[in-house]
Amino acid sequence: MQANTYQKLVDAFRSAYGRAPEHMVRAPGRVNLMGDHTDYNDGFVLPMAIDRWVWIALAARNDLKVHLHSLDMNDTAAFDLSALDSPQQGWAAYAEGVAWALGQAGHALGGWQGVLLGEVPMGAGLSSSAALEMAVARACCAVSGLPWDPVPMALAGQKAENGWVGMNCGIMDQLISAAGQAGHALCIDCRSLDHEAVSLPPETAVVVLDTTTQRGLVDSAYNQRRTQCDAGAAHFGVPKLRDVTPEMVAAGMGSLEAEIQRRVRHVVSENQRTLDSVAAMEAADAVRLGEIMQASHASLRDDFEVSCPALDQMVDSALASEGCYGARMTGAGFGGCAVALVKADRLEAFIPEVSRKYTQASGLPPRIY
Ligand code: GLA
Repeated sequence: MQANTYQKLVDAFRSAYGRAPEHMVRAPGRVNLMGDHTDYNDGFVLPMAIDRWVWIALAARNDLKVHLHSLDMNDTAAFDLSALDSPQQGWAAYAEGVAWALGQAGHALGGWQGVLLGEVPMGAGLSSSAALEMAVARACCAVSGLPWDPVPMALAGQKAENGWVGMNCGIMDQLISAAGQAGHALCIDCRSLDHEAVSLPPETAVVVLDTTTQRGLVDSAYNQRRTQCDAGAAHFGVPKLRDVTPEMVAAGMGSLEAEIQRRVRHVVSENQRTLDSVAAMEAADAVRLGEIMQASHASLRDDFEVSCPALDQMVDSALASEGCYGARMTGAGFGGCAVALVKADRLEAFIPEVSRKYTQASGLPPRIY
């Protein structure tokens, strides 16, 4: 698949620009093993890069223009680096936004032309937009002679989303796309941005289970959850929910609105589960990691209320299939994907079994990665 992708990009570049590309860059999508809705609370997350990328074949130009042709969209984004004043509509805004954020960070960028191909499914909750942003950042670095430094590049991607596209996301998706390592998850402290690679337990496989449902209402609900988390932190008189301990939650939250109490309980317990997951992985304890994943799903479903029937059906189907240590929804929620930890030697039987069970429960055909 990789050789095909490479050749397809080289051919498309030649037919678009009449010459060979000078660089080939790529950035992966992600799945999150543990720690959802914790990143914007300055907490901990444990995502993994997945083996699907957004690729760009490119060459430098002699001016300050960027031309990027998307093979998936059959559409070309074009913008001038010296005149980035207002966002375009659609996918072009992500590319433009990264160039804008890198410029704001003081980088002098050169123009380039490229062809883009995305293997990360769009709208499935696997961070195809973060992968696009980090691929564009890599393209900008390649033509402008900048070294690849994951943290500032991820921050530029997040700034593109927050300040240019208008999506108020945290840092997780961009940082894992910028810094992920094969065979490992990355434990990220979203306050310091320190990150550490953690190996998966031996003889396990991480399976991405796409419900194939659209992620409805995600933007408005996401922003509402952020506001509720900030209200929870204000109740405790701390900057972010990261600063609230499980003991503080256990001591009671007084008159705080019941719904906000549930949001707080999720974030504080999810941070602890993320640290506990790292410990389980370091101890090579797949059984423990699976238990923590199940507790996380219950918390996202009941306290943070970001699951949906299809995600619950997928998680139940996974747990009822042979060889599954644990499963949970992953990412923002309201549709999209679940993630399961499975015994590697049961993988072949697990996939048809979970597919069958999910289709029985939901009437939908899943996609399994
Ligand atoms: C989306 C956001 C991330 C993070 C997750 C939930 O993927 O982009 O920053 O908040 O939701 O964990």
